[in-house]
Amino acid sequence: MSGVDLGALVKPGASEVHRDVFLSQGVFEQEMKTVFRRTWVYVGHDSQVPEKGDFTTTTIGTQPVIMVRHNDATVQVLLNRCPHKGTQLVNSPSGNTGRFFRCPYHAWSFKTDGSALGIPFKKGYEDTGFDKSCANEGMCNIRNVKNYRGFIFASLSENGESFDDFFGGSLSSIDNMIDRSPEGKLEIVGAPLRYLHHCNWKMLVDNQTDTCHPMIAHESSAGTVKKIWEAAADEDTPKPMVVELVLPFMSSYETFEKMGIRTWDHGHGHTGVSWSIHSEYSDVEGYLTAMIEAYGEDRAQKIIAETRHNTCFFPNLMIKGAIQTLRLFKPVAADKTVVESWIFRLVGAPDTFLKRTAMYNRIINAPTSIVGHDDLEMYERAQEGLKVDANPWVNLQRHYREDELGGERLHPGTSEVQMRNHYVSWAKYMNEGVGS
Ligand code: FES
Ligand SMILES: [Fe+2]
Repeated sequence: MSGVDLGALVKPGASEVHRDVFLSQGVFEQEMKTVFRRTWVYVGHDSQVPEKGDFTTTTIGTQPVIMVRHNDATVQVLLNRCPHKGTQLVNSPSGNTGRFFRCPYHAWSFKTDGSALGIPFKKGYEDTGFDKSCANEGMCNIRNVKNYRGFIFASLSENGESFDDFFGGSLSSIDNMIDRSPEGKLEIVGAPLRYLHHCNWKMLVDNQTDTCHPMIAHESSAGTVKKIWEAAADEDTPKPMVVELVLPFMSSYETFEKMGIRTWDHGHGHTGVSWSIHSEYSDVEGYLTAMIEAYGEDRAQKIIAETRHNTCFFPNLMIKGAIQTLRLFKPVAADKTVVESWIFRLVGAPDTFLKRTAMYNRIINAPTSIVGHDDLEMYERAQEGLKVDANPWVNLQRHYREDELGGERLHPGTSEVQMRNHYVSWAKYMNEGVGS
């Protein structure tokens, strides 16, 4: 394991994990070669690249990639490196490259599937053996790319699980978010809110299913909104959208306990099995009718009633189906993580949904929000506090049971089981070691 003693980092069942899981740059580098290499990592949504030649740039772990719409309409994922001397082919977050990429250094060009197109003054390569070189093969095109109903995932490994085996039943959360559109279609709207956190990426993942923190960590923000609202309005006063979005953060432990948690193999899981803090938003006029027309009464009611809270897809993706947001926790270093918060339009649904998801993103997730920076402060304090040379363990034992994982399982809503599920899976991929 090249310097990382995994057995010393994760206790059985991940009831406790060692601080080095968050602090060690060596562990981080190992994660990049194992966890982010052998799993299916979210790259983007195909609505970000609607036209041929449209591209966006992102990372799989720390590997820079380009997601591009090829001229046969497929979405391709290419490593962002010129096969000549390694220059980054594109350096903007998004754009349209036309029919090919052209390297800014010596003008080698490549089709949008990465294959070599042209080299200026090419006769200089005659009789040099260039035809057998890696450079002659063009840009590196990632072969394992899956477009799941518009969600693009890629795996850098030839030897990991298949897409369907890896995600299994967890895809039902993506299905539900898409099915909430009467046309069964989502579109990304705008650029994401993107900002840097000085903490380990896994702290953000853990927090997505941490249901014992909102009423405490968000008391100063959500609790203040609650106090002001209760003083200003009586029970029958209709809540403005912003109040409706923020108040549920002050729900009780008992309420979160009842929400429930569902886990699946390979580290995926979600909060909000039977109910969630997204369940009681006001009805939107015209929506139910449109859904019934599209799906029939029974199916429409079922789709709308499924208000899952946060679904975590191992390793670094979270979606909120009921509010159409997606958050990606992009590892930069052991103590640096870029968070991207994206919003979707439910195609064919009333505009109120877009207003709601945009407001949620601004109020809850933005660096300028009144909620998200409460979490940020907790992560950054934990990243600092873990440096204390006393107790080296992070405790994840809430509702711990030895035989709690395996297949699809249900748990109490304040359990830390999804965090344990994440680290059990993390240890498995770390253990499999570095490979192709
Ligand atoms: S480095 Fe790209 S063409 Fe030379
Ligand atoms: Fe929070």
